[in-house]
Amino acid sequence: MIVSETVQRQIEGASWIRRMFEEGIRLKRERGEENVYDFTLGNPTEDPPDAVRAALQKLARTNARGAHSYMPNAGFPDVRRKLAQSLERDTGVPFTEDHILMTVGCAGAMNTVFKAMLNPGDEVIVPMPFFPDYQFYILNFSGKMVPVETDENFELDIAAIEAKITPKTRAIILNSPNNPTGVIYPEALLRDLEALLRRADHPIAVISDEPYKSYVYDGAKCPETAAIISNCIIATSWSKTWSIPGERIGYLAISPRLPEADALSQACTFTNRILGFINAPAIWQLATAEAPDAAPDLGAYTEKRDLLCDGLARAGYEVRKPQGAFYVFLKTPIPDDMEFTKILLKEGVLAVPGKGFGRAGYIRLSLTVSRDTIVRSLPFFEKAIKQIKN
Ligand SMILES: Cc1ncc(COP(=O)(O)O)c(C=O)c1O
Repeated sequence: MIVSETVQRQIEGASWIRRMFEEGIRLKRERGEENVYDFTLGNPTEDPPDAVRAALQKLARTNARGAHSYMPNAGFPDVRRKLAQSLERDTGVPFTEDHILMTVGCAGAMNTVFKAMLNPGDEVIVPMPFFPDYQFYILNFSGKMVPVETDENFELDIAAIEAKITPKTRAIILNSPNNPTGVIYPEALLRDLEALLRRADHPIAVISDEPYKSYVYDGAKCPETAAIISNCIIATSWSKTWSIPGERIGYLAISPRLPEADALSQACTFTNRILGFINAPAIWQLATAEAPDAAPDLGAYTEKRDLLCDGLARAGYEVRKPQGAFYVFLKTPIPDDMEFTKILLKEGVLAVPGKGFGRAGYIRLSLTVSRDTIVRSLPFFEKAIKQIKN
């Protein structure tokens, strides 16, 4: 077989994603696009903010010398300097350009740092439920993902994390605002985690995966993890913030408070290169410096969140509104989320079963759909729950 056994196994393990995708295509063909309500993908489809499009036009017009060339593998120094300054302003931590590495999206950032950090068999603790690709990023470098339970509100359980720490623990992934739950970890819990890490007998890094940082609702504020956690490595991107997930631009920021931060920064610059990324897309690096304040339209997302959550609650679902990110993690009216996903599918509604995120009994619904899709889908959510209650 030309495909490695490892990859074949991984493909089979992740086949539920493919099955959902294929079912969606079949259903759309059968019933027409407009009669299928696809809540599966976290793929913002609105236009990027005006300031971003203006920045791109300006960059293309001026075509500054070297704007399309190789640059240092870590990225354009002046872009990294600007980012370091804004991070220092937001966190109070003295980041410099040497701690910033421009990456191919957030996924590129995470693979780059895991390649630099993990020895075979090293462990990475991941609170459940989690973004499913983490397991593969860790396995790419022969690491071991160690899932850890969160509490009934999907908040970090510090005692549970402590129980999972072994001499092989190298890192913990935090994702706040969280995909899939929408939870924002409060400052007090981050402080408890910092205290735990200080008690540990070897350095454990926190990879703070922050692509949803700008999606917060009801005036909530997402605490700056790097301000609280000394051993913090931020991995993030503009994929969601600017609705440009196809453009692949992000960065790693390694806190200068992390032991051996400089050595890790240099190692990441190297691993970014040898993983084949070489450097992050040049024009997008420049764009990030041109439009630093461009933000998503939170009003539209708040409206969609409320429309969906209130509609689902009226239909009889037990709903928890997300505090951030753009997903609703909905408790299924029967414990078997795969079964309930099938019931919804028959009604033309596509959702991702919670099992894929390591938490059965839930489904994930993405708010990146249009307002109209939400309105037209609600009667079908209602039909699905009625089938169970009757
Ligand atoms: C939690 C989380 N981390 C990382 C990523 C990857 O982001 P990017 O597309 O910028 O690589 C995603 C994408 O959906 C995500 O949901």
